[in-house]
Amino acid sequence: MESDLLGLELILGVTGGIAAYKAVDLASKLTGAGAVVHCILTENACKLVAPKSFEAVTGREVFTSLWSAPQEYRIGHVTLADRAQMVVVAPATANLLAKAAMGLCDDLLSTTLCAGWEKPTIVAPAMNDRMWSNPAVQQNVETLRCRGWRMVGPAAGRLACGREGMGRMAEPAEILEAIRAIRAGS
Ligand SMILES: Cc1cc2nc3c(=O)[nH]c(=O)nc-3n(C[C@H](O)[C@H](O)[C@H](O)COP(=O)(O)O)c2cc1C
Repeated sequence: MESDLLGLELILGVTGGIAAYKAVDLASKLTGAGAVVHCILTENACKLVAPKSFEAVTGREVFTSLWSAPQEYRIGHVTLADRAQMVVVAPATANLLAKAAMGLCDDLLSTTLCAGWEKPTIVAPAMNDRMWSNPAVQQNVETLRCRGWRMVGPAAGRLACGREGMGRMAEPAEILEAIRAIRAGS
């Protein structure tokens, strides 16, 4: 397996979208490529996919709460943000996009994103097509793009709700490509 991400330490934020299961594959591929992956799951992500799955594929502790910060760190969200060279959020819910655009900090992931605002950040939005086309969502995406966040996807296709449309999370391979491009400075 290619180990071209050796030396890369990143945060993988996972939110409560049905595509959260694909994030396990992304975490696995990143780890396989040599990256150190610190996963942060929101409370809603934990209802869709188990933290244990991420722990198993990364071989690392998975973070789910501001209040159970990692033992070795004094203040989890600040230390994680400091350590990581890059932040990836996949899938990113409409809720997360809104919170990040507003600078809201009401859980470990949103607080870490706020503390780590200067880090290169890749976001893979995923949601129902009507949610994606909501002007509020589009405005939040534009706000985040203007701040330098890189959006990967969403793609068109079959959605979990049974509809066809725009809103599928980008495939892990495409997100990996974006990570490699940022690392290469492009
Ligand atoms: C089964 C299920 C699937 C969901 N899928 C999505 C989704 O793909 N995208 C999205 O934006 N919200 C989705 N939601 C709604 C979010 O879970 C909800 O907005 C939640 O507040 C998001 O919290 P978080 O951003 O902190 O993870 C889903 C909810 C349920 C019950």
